[in-house]
Amino acid sequence: MLMLRLLFICCHLFLLPHLVITASWTSSQFPDLRGASVDQCVRAMPHGQLLYICDPDNILNTSQALALNRQLHELSIGTTCHCQRISQCITRNGLQEASHGFVVSIAIVSNLQMTIHSPSEAQLTERAESFTKALEGRWALGDCGNSVIIFVWEHYKKIVIWPARLAEKYVSYDERRHMLTRVNDLVQGDKWHEALSQLIAEIGKELHGQPEQKLDTGTLALILSVAVAVLLTMLITCCVCAFRCCGNLKGDERPRGVLAAAHRVDSIRALVLRRGSQLRRSFSKSPKFPVSRDGPDRFFGDTTIV
Ligand SMILES: *[C@@H]1O[C@H](CO)[C@@H](O)[C@H](O)[C@H]1NC(C)=O
Repeated sequence: MLMLRLLFICCHLFLLPHLVITASWTSSQFPDLRGASVDQCVRAMPHGQLLYICDPDNILNTSQALALNRQLHELSIGTTCHCQRISQCITRNGLQEASHGFVVSIAIVSNLQMTIHSPSEAQLTERAESFTKALEGRWALGDCGNSVIIFVWEHYKKIVIWPARLAEKYVSYDERRHMLTRVNDLVQGDKWHEALSQLIAEIGKELHGQPEQKLDTGTLALILSVAVAVLLTMLITCCVCAFRCCGNLKGDERPRGVLAAAHRVDSIRALVLRRGSQLRRSFSKSPKFPVSRDGPDRFFGDTTIV
């Protein structure tokens, strides 16, 4: 009995502090990378650089965090500014001013607060994405949607790459999926520093490239209708040419099939002309449509009438 009680006390002594240290984060409790709570993010601040990593559970050690921060700093000053105003890309670090392009930052947690006890993979992804989205709004790192947050959920070995509006055109959904597949082995082996370092390099490569050109449906419809119109025009021109050539032949030289076709076309033409003159009569009553009173022969003047 005494042994059992001792064991119980021991358990409490060892487990309680551990439980307190590994807090489950919510997005509002999580430290602000550009706010007063920034000193909770890392144990040692980098010199001459802004901080781009928030790791309050100390999953990375100091040298790893500083190495990744240097990589993120170089990415930020090495990419071009795609904002409309250049002032949106000025960083103030103390008295120094520097121009930056895309701002990629990292948030690492041991665990997030969850209301579901045994969440499915989809629920985990949804929770991770909503946390990262909330951080994007709170941290507000890029002034024109030029930020990317890499979120690491250590407990479930999960990484989310979350680009803001503009950055999304440079790092597409498929590219993000492929990047995460390539670091999966490192993630499963808890090699967070290596995995993050590789991700930063790959995201940097995409951010240096061209934005994804999405063809919207309006442009597509326009291109299609122009193509159809061109095809139709060509077809009609060919038909007219063919019948003109045949029409210039002598009656007896014509092959029988062509003769029949020509007859048919002529009867259609006569019908169209009759309809046309009816239409013209109704149009000419309206002053908006002044129509020339020239006879129909003017339009088909050089075609031989059979
Ligand atoms: C951080 O961790 C890496 C890999 O585990 C190790 O090589 C390095 O010495 C550590 N650095 C510090 C300052 O503890």
